[in-house]
Amino acid sequence: MEVVICPTHDDLSIRAARIVAELLRAKPDPVLGLPIGSTPIGLYHELVRMHREEGLSLARARTFNLIEYVGLGPEHPQSSHRFMRQYLFDHVDICPDKVYAPSGLAMDLDAHCLFYEQQIADCGGIDLQVLGIGTDGHIAFNEPGSSFSSRTRRVALARQTIDDNARFFPSRQHVPLMAVSLGIGTILEARRILLLASGPNKAGILAAAVEGIINEMCPASALQLHEHVTVLTDESAASRLTVSAGQRR
Ligand code: GLP
Repeated sequence: MEVVICPTHDDLSIRAARIVAELLRAKPDPVLGLPIGSTPIGLYHELVRMHREEGLSLARARTFNLIEYVGLGPEHPQSSHRFMRQYLFDHVDICPDKVYAPSGLAMDLDAHCLFYEQQIADCGGIDLQVLGIGTDGHIAFNEPGSSFSSRTRRVALARQTIDDNARFFPSRQHVPLMAVSLGIGTILEARRILLLASGPNKAGILAAAVEGIINEMCPASALQLHEHVTVLTDESAASRLTVSAGQRR
């Protein structure tokens, strides 16, 4: 794991955008896995800026959303469909037919999850998977206890996740209890992974994920098993790491 400690969330966002942009320049048709959450918003703002001011093109990129809440349609304000359009897709030259997202409304969710996995495989696998981290260590919506070999599937959200995400909904009662999430096994097959962590509320779980024992009660610790992970963290989220900036392990 390469751990990069950035002074602020803005620096982290710029650094993350440069990594995405470098990939887009080296391989114009990459397959990107993209997260929702407050942490990656700065990355998406910076990609939009690079598109407008520096001609960065996503025209040939293919993208896969990481998750969707079960029961939310693509127009729901808290759906990952809508989030990605609002922060990125509506502002860059991405082709709508190259945007892939799990549906939270599929009649047969199990079949839909298999189909989503097949779509990733048909695109040649994910080149760069961007991730945030939940305060309980989840990646995508793989909650504590998720198997490291899990695939895209329907998952139950942990109470802590529902509490954390209640801020995005009118009330806690509005937060869906279930989601469709890429599996940890699916995520670990990405060729490169970028984990973003920001804010003091992530300090403890980031230390557990990066420096703690690899175990399924801390889903993000699975990333220690992957050969090409870059952790971009701001100083507040890095405050409980013993690693020094830029150290590769
Ligand atoms: C949600 C998403 C995760 C994200 C997490 C952290 O639960 N499914 O992919 O990593 O939120 O979000 P935030 O960046 O807002 O802390």
